[in-house]
Amino acid sequence: MTTTAAPAATTAVDMSVDLAGMRLPSPMMTASGCAANGKELARFFDLRELGAFVTKSVMADPRSGRGTPRMAETPSGMLNSIGLQGPGITAFVEQDLAWLHENGARVLVSIAGGTSAEFADVAARLAASEAFAAVVGVEVNISCPNVANRGLVFACDPAASADVLSQVRPQLPPEVPIFAKLTPDVTDIVTVAQAAVEAGADGLTMINTLLGMVIDTDLLRPQVAGVTGGLSGPAVRPVAVRAIWQTRAAMRDGRLPEVPVIGVGGVRTGRDALELVAAGASAVQVGTAAFNDPNAPVRVGRELRDLLHEKGFSRLSDVVGIAHERMA
Ligand SMILES: Cc1cc2nc3c(=O)[nH]c(=O)nc-3n(C[C@H](O)[C@H](O)[C@H](O)COP(=O)(O)O)c2cc1C
Repeated sequence: MTTTAAPAATTAVDMSVDLAGMRLPSPMMTASGCAANGKELARFFDLRELGAFVTKSVMADPRSGRGTPRMAETPSGMLNSIGLQGPGITAFVEQDLAWLHENGARVLVSIAGGTSAEFADVAARLAASEAFAAVVGVEVNISCPNVANRGLVFACDPAASADVLSQVRPQLPPEVPIFAKLTPDVTDIVTVAQAAVEAGADGLTMINTLLGMVIDTDLLRPQVAGVTGGLSGPAVRPVAVRAIWQTRAAMRDGRLPEVPVIGVGGVRTGRDALELVAAGASAVQVGTAAFNDPNAPVRVGRELRDLLHEKGFSRLSDVVGIAHERMA
C-alpha cells in the first residue's frame, strides 16, 4: 500500500493579508531603500513570493544623494546617510516599474518630495504611467526632510504631514491605498498618525530610521559625510514595537480610525516579525537584514508561518495586535 505524504502542516496557516483593500498572499515586504528596485534581489528569489516589493523612495527629478562615505556600522545596526538618491519619477516608471511589472511583482511604490506639491506631482505621474497595473499601493515617505522648510521632517509636524497626504490622495485612483511612513523621532507619534489618516492615508508604515550619529574615534570626526544619518537594524526594533503598539492602542481606544499598519524596524527572524505583528502590524517589511542575507524577506515569512503553526494559529490575521489582549 502506498501512502501519500501528508502536506506540510505549516501550509495550513493562512498568511494572506488585506491592507485597506490591498489583498496580498503574504505579509512580507522589502523595506524601501534596502532592496534597490528589484533586479538585485530577483537573483536570489522570485519577487512574487513577497506580498509586495517596496521600491526606494522616488522624487520628481534624478538625485545623486549625499556625499560619501554614507554608511557606518553601529552596535546592532547601521547608520546611513544615502539621501534620496534616485533616477527621478520619469526614468523610474519607464525602467524600474516596467521591469517589476514584466516580472509579475506586486509593487508598493515609495514616493518622496521636497514640498507637498512635489509629492502630488510624483503621484500623478506614477498614476499616469504604463506599468501602473503593477502598483498595489503607494507608500508616502513623509519621514524625509522637507526641503522647503529647511530640513524639517514632514512627519515631525502633524499639519505638514496632513498637507502632503491631502495633496497625494486625489492624484491616485481611490482603490489604490496610500500608506504614510512615519518617523519615530517625535514626542507623540499618535498625533502625527491621526493627522495623516484624517488627511487621506489608508494605512501607516512604521518606522523609518532614527536620527543618529557616529564619530570615528581614530580620526575624531563624523564617520559619514552627511554628519548625521538614519539608524536601522536590530537596535531600533524596540522603538518600532513601541510605535506600533501606541498607534494600535489609540485605534482600540477610538482615538484613531482603524487602519492597517505595516511594521518595519530591525526584523531579522520570524520571531522578530511576530513581535511587530503581536503589537499590531498586519504586514512586515525587512530592510537592513537584507544587506547581510538577501533571502531574509522571504525566509522571515516562512519562519513566521512555522512559528504561528507551532503556536496553534491558523490565520496570521488572528494574531495582529494580540498582545493588547494579553496584558498582564
Ligand atoms: C540604506 C538605507 C536606505 C533607506 N532608504 C529609504 C528610502 O528611500 N525611503 C524610506 O522610506 N525608507 C528608507 N530607509 C528606511 C527603511 O525602509 C526602514 O524603514 C528602516 O531601515 C528600518 O527597518 P530595518 O531596521 O529593517 O532596516 C532606508 C534604510 C536604509 C538602511
